[in-house]
Amino acid sequence: MLETIVKIGGEDGSFTLLGHQEGESWSFYRLRDESVLPAELLGTNLAAALAELTPRWTRMRPIVVHPEFQWKIYREVLRVRPEDEPLWQKACTQNNPTYALAHLMATSRNTVVLTGAGMSTESGLPDFRSKDGWWRSIDPLTVATIDALENNYEVFRDFYQYRIEMLQRYEPHEGHAILAKWEQEGLLHSIATQNVDGFHTDAGSVRVAELHGNLTTIRCHACGKPAEPASFLADKACEHCKGRLRPAVVLFGESLPEHSWNQALQWFHAAELVIVIGTSLQVAPTSQLPRYISGRSAYINLDIEGAESFAFDFVIQGRAKRTLTELDDMLTFILDTQGRANDR
Ligand code: OAD
Repeated sequence: MLETIVKIGGEDGSFTLLGHQEGESWSFYRLRDESVLPAELLGTNLAAALAELTPRWTRMRPIVVHPEFQWKIYREVLRVRPEDEPLWQKACTQNNPTYALAHLMATSRNTVVLTGAGMSTESGLPDFRSKDGWWRSIDPLTVATIDALENNYEVFRDFYQYRIEMLQRYEPHEGHAILAKWEQEGLLHSIATQNVDGFHTDAGSVRVAELHGNLTTIRCHACGKPAEPASFLADKACEHCKGRLRPAVVLFGESLPEHSWNQALQWFHAAELVIVIGTSLQVAPTSQLPRYISGRSAYINLDIEGAESFAFDFVIQGRAKRTLTELDDMLTFILDTQGRANDR
């Protein structure tokens, strides 16, 4: 299906750039005036396609700008002919929730992030409830409960061994790295996560509350003493009491680690802005955390159906990595512009 990427108008008439998405990549086409003719392929490079559409495109009036391309086109205007920016500003940044969120971040003195499994799917790890999620092919009751650990240990162990081995094949992505960078730069206070993959810490984030524990921290279910992941992966029992080894993750029916939970509550209370990323918000008590927000809030998720009941200020439907990359670019731009304005 061809979608309108941008429609511009001026004295020479109007020009429309169309786009066709396949997977993650787009091809761009010129809509010909005589619409009976097929659209003409202009390639996969947006900048080149815009220039080919009509060389003076930045000087024309934007009539339609595809929401997914607003920021890219705005950046292109600034690159090609910055003096035309006022013509484009409204169409590219107004009603753009990611841009509005970047503005809020630039002024927030205390921003906190909450993540779920959707944060790590672009690293290759499945989430739980999407089409390819764990709980679509495995009943959580058979692997993620105390009952499974105590009465069906081999199945329990296989499941978690497999998930630990997966971690060795995958790594944090650029979105994790951006969150870590924001913390270093003082733009983000902390992260509360339901993820047990340890990717936030691996990416360099320091203030992280792991609400559901961590897959690679192993302990004995009977005596509580720590053990090496290698022992768990080699089917060994606890060397102290011969008890069953398990990852220190929260199973259904268990309480959340008190320290992490209290930390998260404190962070949410104090936050001026909370950004919730990649979680269906279906599992209590973490799903209740957004209700403790007294500041502003945003939700970034592929599926936004359940968002209405949380009264988020901004809802951004999209992938975590792509949205965070764009948000980071916008934030850098806004902070640079503010910095330049303050220097004057
Ligand atoms: P879910 O699988 O319930 O939700 C993940 C959400 O992320 C879904 O709404 C997806 O649409 C979205 N998503 C997937 N990929 C995305 C991407 N690249 N960018 C943005 N969004 C994306 O996972 P959680 O909410 O984290 O607990 O699940 C919470 C808890 O339920 C887990 O910690 C686990 C599970 O049972 C236990 O095992 C105790």
